[in-house]
Amino acid sequence: MKIAMGNDHSAVDMKNAIKAYVEQKGYEVIDFGTNTTESCDYPVYGEKVGRAVAAGEADYGIAICGTGIGIGIAASKVKGTRVCTCSEPYSARLSRQHNNTNVLTFGARVIGEEMAKMIVDEWLDNEYQGGRHQRRVDQVMEIENH
Ligand code: RB5
Repeated sequence: MKIAMGNDHSAVDMKNAIKAYVEQKGYEVIDFGTNTTESCDYPVYGEKVGRAVAAGEADYGIAICGTGIGIGIAASKVKGTRVCTCSEPYSARLSRQHNNTNVLTFGARVIGEEMAKMIVDEWLDNEYQGGRHQRRVDQVMEIENH
């Protein structure tokens, strides 16, 4: 399974920590950077992660900026993405089980590495439940066609 990862300058250390963590869990990472702390623009990296997931080059995406919000907005503009921005594990789990999210974002300036690992665990280790949720996910995705 492949995870596309991207981040801005505020999240290089966090990205490297989470990259190592998911690799240890057995995932292959496609790292779109940035890998320097020189100021850059989060939309560039949110879009790269979103496009990799939407194109099927990666199974999941994880994108990190200062708050997780800007890079999440950017990734969610790519047709085919379902993005969640999480600061705690419960929402991460439910976003997989109910919303079938395929991109996770969080803020390197909001949460610490250990919380980020808990969020990533809940997000990657839980499956989409389908059933009654499928109609609603279909309704969400249909919005992109109008
Ligand atoms: C960068 O300063 C900051 O705006 C960015 O990392 C992010 O928090 C935007 O949503």
